[in-house]
Amino acid sequence: MAEAGSGTYAAILSDLLERGAITPTDTILVQFAGEFDEKITAELGLVNCTFSNLAPDSPSSRLADGRHADAHRMPYADGSFDHVIGHAGLHHCSRPHQALHEMYRIARRTVVAVENQDSPLMRAACSLGLAGVYEHAAVADGGGTTGGVDGTGVPNFVYRWTRHEVRKTVATFDPGRAVPIEFHARWLIGSDRALTTSVRAAIGGRERVIGMINRGLNTVARRQGNIFGFTIRKDLASPQPWIALEAAS
Ligand SMILES: C[S@@+](CC[C@H](N)C(=O)[O-])C[C@H]1O[C@@H](n2cnc3c(N)ncnc32)[C@H](O)[C@@H]1O
Repeated sequence: MAEAGSGTYAAILSDLLERGAITPTDTILVQFAGEFDEKITAELGLVNCTFSNLAPDSPSSRLADGRHADAHRMPYADGSFDHVIGHAGLHHCSRPHQALHEMYRIARRTVVAVENQDSPLMRAACSLGLAGVYEHAAVADGGGTTGGVDGTGVPNFVYRWTRHEVRKTVATFDPGRAVPIEFHARWLIGSDRALTTSVRAAIGGRERVIGMINRGLNTVARRQGNIFGFTIRKDLASPQPWIALEAAS
């Protein structure tokens, strides 16, 4: 079940491949994985992927060969994979920061996540009832018993991130090092699963208009885009200057 950020996911991974930050044979843990992730990674030629999901047989996943694991308690040692990547999953977790910490802990070189952005425009959209605060559509797809928070039938709160929050969270995980983070944002309204049913019905079949709105928003306010990806570059981390100073004193 791909959501709105699918193009962003492929674009981020392909850019990392082009820059040599990922090579096709690197080991990759794909968190919150589904058939969509299998397709994208295969298209990009990533040949060493392990696919993991709390509910690998559910309609939201349908993994051909998936590991069963809860993102909050992953059965892997620190730095077990070169990269840990996840598309549209953290906002389904009851403890998104803990799940991101697990991704960070297991990754040796990079963590890639594609989620939703918390921005003034998105908050306005939520207040006006244009975008959902809770994600009901995924539970409806799961027949009312799965697809929600931690794979249950309770719709998840759509946890949206800001740049500042990702930076604070990573600094908290790894205070001894400065860890670069790359951000990617763009507007892609219309296919957002968190849109309310009435808005989805209203815009259905009006692809041209939605396309124009997305292009306009991306021209004037791309930074605030609803689709939000980030790449945590553990591979480029450097010790905090005060670590050396304290060691010397
Ligand atoms: C919106 S789907 C995304 C699936 C796929 N990545 C995609 O983009 O099509 C979110 C997935 O996260 C999984 N999930 C939810 N809570 C989880 C948890 N605590 N641990 C691991 N996976 C979880 C669900 O089973 C679901 O398949």
